[in-house]
Amino acid sequence: MTDADEPPDDTGDVDSDDPEFSGVSEGVADSVTTSRSDPTPPEATLDDVRSEEESADEASQGLFDDLLSGQPIFENKEVLRPSYTPRKLPHREEQINNMATILVTALRGDTPSNILIYGKTGTGKTASAKFVSDELESTSEKYEVPCEVEYINCEVTDTQYRVLAQLANKFIGKNRESIDEDLADLEALREGGGDLAESSYDSPRSVEQRIEELEADRDRFEEVPMTGWPTDRVYSSFFDAVDYRERVVVIMLDEIDKLVEKSGDDTLYNLSRMNSELENSRVSIMGISNDLKFTDFLDPRVKSSLGEEEIVFPPYDANQLRDILEHRAEEAFEPDALTDDVIPLCAAFAAQEHGDARRALDLLRTAGELAERDQTDGVEEAHVRKAQEKIELDRVVEVVRTLPQQSKLVLFSIILLEKQGVHNINTGEVYNIYKRLCEEIDTDVLTQRRVTDLISELDMLGIVNAVVVSKGRYGRTKEISLSVPLEETEAVLLSDSRLGDIEDVQPFVQARFDS
Ligand SMILES: Nc1ncnc2c1ncn2[C@@H]1O[C@H](COP(=O)(O)OP(=O)(O)OP(=O)(O)O)[C@@H](O)[C@H]1O
Ligand SMILES: [Mg+2]
Repeated sequence: MTDADEPPDDTGDVDSDDPEFSGVSEGVADSVTTSRSDPTPPEATLDDVRSEEESADEASQGLFDDLLSGQPIFENKEVLRPSYTPRKLPHREEQINNMATILVTALRGDTPSNILIYGKTGTGKTASAKFVSDELESTSEKYEVPCEVEYINCEVTDTQYRVLAQLANKFIGKNRESIDEDLADLEALREGGGDLAESSYDSPRSVEQRIEELEADRDRFEEVPMTGWPTDRVYSSFFDAVDYRERVVVIMLDEIDKLVEKSGDDTLYNLSRMNSELENSRVSIMGISNDLKFTDFLDPRVKSSLGEEEIVFPPYDANQLRDILEHRAEEAFEPDALTDDVIPLCAAFAAQEHGDARRALDLLRTAGELAERDQTDGVEEAHVRKAQEKIELDRVVEVVRTLPQQSKLVLFSIILLEKQGVHNINTGEVYNIYKRLCEEIDTDVLTQRRVTDLISELDMLGIVNAVVVSKGRYGRTKEISLSVPLEETEAVLLSDSRLGDIEDVQPFVQARFDS
């Protein structure tokens, strides 16, 4: 047995530098596994361990040694990842205070207004909401007021059933926990471990009755399965569970637009009318979205109820992004790992991307990783530029990979024309090649009008550039060119199994000149 097979507690004893340990090893016939208080027989000897260390040394051919030898750049890379929740959120004080001012009502036992939060992607909505939610919960614990926050990401939990089931199970779990605590106290009282006179029960019989009631309650709270029940039943499970105790519940629905898009506004309708029926508890909703248009699809009653209070998260400007990055970089990087222009450049690039802090952090992390790979002592401006290219390319690859097949065919046609050195491609030329490609893979051919629409969509995605030019008395036409790197984009298209099957593309391009 090697030390790696030992449970972690024991491995500490296998340190041959430990003077105490060497004493033990001599005394107990070179035992390396027995802890001092544990007289189990030795399973490996120090010699075994030593010889393994040596052979590990010999076995290594230094693959990682070189990579490890450079100056470390990151002190804690996790701090730059999206999953990290920062403790400080510069430039969001106003929004955070607004949220707190509305939600403090919950700590006073009243129902806060519903809140709708919106702002572009990467403007700190989720980070701020989580920060406020943590504060609210910890303050409610401190003052022992029954206020609870439930955060739901509707991109993941995207149907009424799932939202209600998640909420129901959360409160069912909490109810059971508190029932178990009460039962433990009552059982102690029954067994004579507590003083009946000091309790609110006047007789052993009433204690007994209360125990029976609680046990029945506990059995009643059955977990909701993740599928299979009628939605009505899930709703009433949630309703009963939340109303079991007095409390104020704040439900945060992040990416609420995804829920509405996928499943309509029933969930919001049901949640927003609950308060009129709840007896002990109150529910308040905080919706978060980066797309305000979703409110157009809401029932007017839901819309006005949800938007009782609105908080806008404006995009960050370059200076604000700089502050945000500086705070995070302090923890993430080793001292002096960044040259002076790194953070301002990341901030400037991300400010162009509609002030997206996520983008700024991605850039900074990627630049650090590239510097690490180059084994330089620090991150330089060039790493940021390379990181920007890499992130942009990753985005393109992802967009192209997930295009519908017809759009892929249109894009492939444009690429084939560009590869032939054709400039200022027009829609008719694209359409001719596109038709041949469709025939080749035996798929439906769309009308030229539809293909023109698909070209406009590719333009909006930033993959092609299509400008309308006037041809005088010949009318107007579109001039199309590729806005993304040709080879990489072609490679992504060809990785699609059907497009990859198209064999010799040359003849198709000839079609342009034939037509
Ligand atoms: N003011 C800030 N200070 C520090 N970090 C921030 C700040 N604002 C945003 N961030 C960070 O930027 C990233 C994106 O923020 P967040 O996830 O809150 O954006 P969002 O507004 O919810 O975007 P989306 O609409 O795409 O969900 C996160 O890593 C977050 O920690
Ligand atoms: Mg978010």
